[in-house]
Amino acid sequence: MILILGSEKEFHSKYVFEFLKQQNEEVEYLNTGKFPVSDKINWFPTDSVNSGNFVIDGKKISFNEIKSIYWRWQYSVDICKLLNIKASSYTSFVMNKEIAATTDSLFYALKCNWVNPIEAIYLHRTKAYQLFLLAQNGFRVPKTLISNDSEEIIKFAEENNYDLIYKPVQGGCHTAILTKDDLSADRLNSFKTGAVQFQEKLDGTDIRVYIVGDKIFPAEIRAKTIDFRSDKDAEIVPVKLPPEIEKQCFKIADMFKLKFTGIDIKTKSNGEYVFIEANPSPMFVGFERQSKYNITETLCELLKKEYR
Ligand SMILES: Nc1ncnc2c1ncn2[C@@H]1O[C@H](COP(=O)(O)OP(=O)(O)OP(=O)(O)O)[C@@H](O)[C@H]1O
Ligand SMILES: [Mg+2]
Repeated sequence: MILILGSEKEFHSKYVFEFLKQQNEEVEYLNTGKFPVSDKINWFPTDSVNSGNFVIDGKKISFNEIKSIYWRWQYSVDICKLLNIKASSYTSFVMNKEIAATTDSLFYALKCNWVNPIEAIYLHRTKAYQLFLLAQNGFRVPKTLISNDSEEIIKFAEENNYDLIYKPVQGGCHTAILTKDDLSADRLNSFKTGAVQFQEKLDGTDIRVYIVGDKIFPAEIRAKTIDFRSDKDAEIVPVKLPPEIEKQCFKIADMFKLKFTGIDIKTKSNGEYVFIEANPSPMFVGFERQSKYNITETLCELLKKEYR
C-alpha cells in the first residue's frame, strides 16, 4: 500500500495517485485535514514499531501494510467548523495542538519509505536555518542579511553596492530587486512589522535540479524576470551540470534526508553556481512537460520500493 499525504483536490497529489493506480498499485490518500472527524488513527506507541492503523474512509490500513508515503501536503483542520461547534480561540488552539502532536509524533515514528521524512519537511519550514546549514557545510550560498533594523539594512546595501534583492524569510511573495526608493525612511519603517531577507543579487540564470533517489534532472529556467515564477513564458531547457555541482546536489539531498527534492540554484555572470534552497515537496508536472524528463515515473518507482 502506498499513501499520498495530501488530497484528491490537490493537483500533484492526484497526479501521482492516478499514475500509481494505472500501474495497479494499491494507493490511498492520507488527508490530515480529515483527522480526527472522519478518518481515524489507532496507534500503540509503546508496543513494537508500526503497531496500529489508519481508518481512511472506513477502510482499516495497518501501519505494517504501508510500503511508502509520498508527502505532498499536510492539511490542517478547522475543527470547530467541522464539528459545527463554537469554541474560544484558546480551546481551538489547544485542540489543534493536540491533533498536530498526534499526527507529527506518529509521522516521526512510522517506519516506511517516506518521500520525504518529516525531518526534511520541517527543516524547510525554517528556511533560513536550512540556508545556515548550507553555509556551514561549505556550499556557496548568497550573502544574506535578515533584519528589521533600518540602519543595518542601509549599511548592508552600501557594502554590497546596492546590488541586492529582497524577499520574505519563509516565502509567500516573489523576489524583488532592491531600489533606492526601498531604502526611503517610509519603506524602511514598514520593516518594523517583521524581518526581511536581503541577499546579494545573483545575475545569471535560474537552474532547477530535481533529485529523485539516485537520478538527477537539471534544467535551466530562462526567465525575463528576477524571480522566474513571475515570467509565465519562462523556457525550461535541460542542461548538464558541472560534475562538482552535480555532486554537491546529491550531497545536499543526502544531508537533508531528501529522497525527492527540487534544488534552486542561480548562476552569476562570473560563472559561479549559488545554492538558494532545497524544496522537500516540489511541484514538478509543469517542469516535466517542458523538459521531457520522466520525473513522475522515477518518483513512482521510488515509491514502489519497500523500506526494509
Ligand atoms: N539572491 C537572489 N538573487 C537573484 N534571484 C533570486 C535570489 N534569491 C531568489 N531569487 C529568485 O527568486 C526565486 C524564488 O526565491 P526562493 O527560492 O528563495 O524563495 P521561494 O521560491 O519563494 O520559496 P518557496 O518556493 O519555498 O515558496 C528563485 O528561484 C530565484 O529565481
Ligand atoms: Mg524557490
